[in-house]
Amino acid sequence: MAVPSAATSPRASHPVLAGLKGRDLLSSADLSPAETEALLLLAADLKTGRTHLDLGGRSLGLIFSKASTRTRVSFTVAMARLGGQTIDLNPSVTQVGRGEPVADTARVLSRYVDALAIRTFAQAELAEYAHWATVPVVNALTDLEHPCQALADYLTLAEHFAAAPDGSLELERLRGLTLAYVGDGNNVAHSLMLGGALLGVNVRIGCPEGFAPSPTVLEQARNLAQGRCSIEVLHEPVAAVRGAHGLYTDVWASMGQEQEQAERERAFAGWCLDEALIAEADSRAIVLHCLPAHRGEEISAGAIEGSASRVFDQAENRLHAQQALLAALLGD
Ligand code: CP
Ligand code: NVA
Repeated sequence: MAVPSAATSPRASHPVLAGLKGRDLLSSADLSPAETEALLLLAADLKTGRTHLDLGGRSLGLIFSKASTRTRVSFTVAMARLGGQTIDLNPSVTQVGRGEPVADTARVLSRYVDALAIRTFAQAELAEYAHWATVPVVNALTDLEHPCQALADYLTLAEHFAAAPDGSLELERLRGLTLAYVGDGNNVAHSLMLGGALLGVNVRIGCPEGFAPSPTVLEQARNLAQGRCSIEVLHEPVAAVRGAHGLYTDVWASMGQEQEQAERERAFAGWCLDEALIAEADSRAIVLHCLPAHRGEEISAGAIEGSASRVFDQAENRLHAQQALLAALLGD
């Protein structure tokens, strides 16, 4: 089959995407509203096969200090589909794990690879990689944010609420929808708040007292929203989900918080995304979870396996969203 070049694809040649070339993605807020929308449109075109892109033998390095199934595999397959390759630079098998400075590692790796996707604990370490690297650095999850996840999440919401009959997306139809996230105000919640602000989606974070998102990120999201939508924090689960179009949750104890698991199970009692909460949402609402999930804790088995669940579409969309992102960061 003939493979159109990027230049022949109306989406890929979009000037907004050209502006992403060579940039880092450390936060969802590193993208403008137009760039976020352009990436979702390209992701949808890649998913449906309307667009094919071959970047020609590029390499992506993966530095993952935490476990990963979806992010690792979806980046690897995305690069393969773009005609490139991924190199696993797990710190346990590189000199990173023996303490080689980030400044040296980032400069050396920039001589070998065309981009780096990094999963680490501290956002400051990611920023240090980006400072020293001369190639694009992508946040593959830190304790503060998970921007690649948020792109896939809003692609999934758009597929359900803003798809034209031919499968293309009419993203203006996202505006005014409400995404309710119930659970810990964590990295995933932060990127959803920022992404929602960029796309005009109202975001409600429902969480127990003491588990609210970062006030800094909340203020940043509200500033980005510029009155287009609301970004709210509520401390009552039914109020958080009432009338919402997307219902989202994530684990109560993120990676690095394992020692707080028991304490968090007590604090989050009554915060399970279950059929009773789904009944309070809009009748068309979809259920989302970034996975991995703990059934019977933050989400019921019935909610994750029920007819409203889109969690496996959402997981698939990591591949398409990241393929679009890599194409924009690396493409000509
Ligand atoms: N959702 C997500 O990032 O999954 P992994 O931890 O498996 O990459
Ligand atoms: N909040 C979770 C997301 C995992 C994909 C964590 O950081 O462990």
